[in-house]
Amino acid sequence: MQSLIGKHIVLGLTGGIACYKAAELCRALIKEGATVQVVMTEGAEQFITPVTMQALSTRTVYTSQWDAREENNMPHINLSREADAILIAPASADFMAKLLHGRADDLLSLMCLARPREDSVQGGAKPVPLLIAPAMNREMWSHPATQRNLQQLATDGAHLLGVGSGFQACGETGDGRMLESAELLEEVIAFFQPKLLAGKHVVVTAGPTYEAIDPVRGITNLSSGKMGFAIARAAREAGAEVTLIAGPVHVPTPRGVTRIDVKSAQNMLVAGTESAQNAHIFIACAAVADWRPANAAEQKIKKDGSGKTPELAFVENPDILATIAKSGRAKKGELYCVGFAAESEDLEANAKAKRIRKGVPLLVGNIGPSTFGQDDNAFLLVDEKGAKQIERAPKLQLARLLVAEIAARIQL
Ligand code: C5P
Repeated sequence: MQSLIGKHIVLGLTGGIACYKAAELCRALIKEGATVQVVMTEGAEQFITPVTMQALSTRTVYTSQWDAREENNMPHINLSREADAILIAPASADFMAKLLHGRADDLLSLMCLARPREDSVQGGAKPVPLLIAPAMNREMWSHPATQRNLQQLATDGAHLLGVGSGFQACGETGDGRMLESAELLEEVIAFFQPKLLAGKHVVVTAGPTYEAIDPVRGITNLSSGKMGFAIARAAREAGAEVTLIAGPVHVPTPRGVTRIDVKSAQNMLVAGTESAQNAHIFIACAAVADWRPANAAEQKIKKDGSGKTPELAFVENPDILATIAKSGRAKKGELYCVGFAAESEDLEANAKAKRIRKGVPLLVGNIGPSTFGQDDNAFLLVDEKGAKQIERAPKLQLARLLVAEIAARIQL
């Protein structure tokens, strides 16, 4: 699945060792369907060659404002007018200081100054957003001058993508590393998604739960968490503040999402109830265990050689979704609850019945064996008006569709 089809990105490189990550980023953007035009400063050319970037982007690289290839000799105008976004990665401290002062003595800074802004576009022209991925030593990053410049750049309309923390090329450890290419890619993709849930707080449960039998054994299920994680990512892309309550899974946390790890259904209920208190939307995607062992043993249950097997008694787990859907805020219409139904047959009838039983306005039906662990899925959306089939597609695509369906329904 490609999320950047039709997007043309001008990738600007300035002088910093993080230029090596820009090479991978260029490839990653192209793999997502974007076209990429690289522009490099003289400083960037000290770290990586235009040949490398030309080969990766399959376009000749621009390095000079005097480039005679352009008939009007105005590469700063032509390149910026074609772009859907200008992404500066890496953005050095010096380059940001230049941008801040509106200096324009090389092609990249000239092009940034000349880009049509939201508050300046004329006629049918489109504004060209400026995305900045800073990269520098930790002392440079934390310097008041840099922090002041960052604030002013944001005020001037730039979109700052943040920095990573950790071991730096200079040998020091701290904030200021450029984000990894995969992280930057996720940020760029998110940037282009419509902000349908801006200002909303969304809570998502995901994955299985684990119900202990003793300290080393337990009961769980085959839910991978992929669907719930995709929903959390899509909600964040749509501008929401997202809390993801995850059972034991091995899926990376989407960028910008707050993750709370839990084990059992009881843990998930506590985290869910607490997080839902100031949320606008609660999406229960987790495959919660229906039952748990009645009395988990405090010590490991031992095999004594007699052939005797342990007797396991079960109690029913709390229904997290039904509990939260019954809360005062949900009843008052302040919290919109969405449930999932993993069925193995008769999806429509089961999903409709489950929606009523859980007391939720929207329920997503899916076939358990065709979704657990898979990268794609199909939905049957059930609300008070009836059922709507959503064809099989990658989970992230379905998650974005679900976010749009929820956004269209909420009247909060
Ligand atoms: O009852 P069933 O497990 O089929 O319901 C599925 C829906 O209810 C899902 O949204 C699931 O996350 C939620 N659920 C829950 N707590 C439970 C069981 C299910 O929140 N104990």
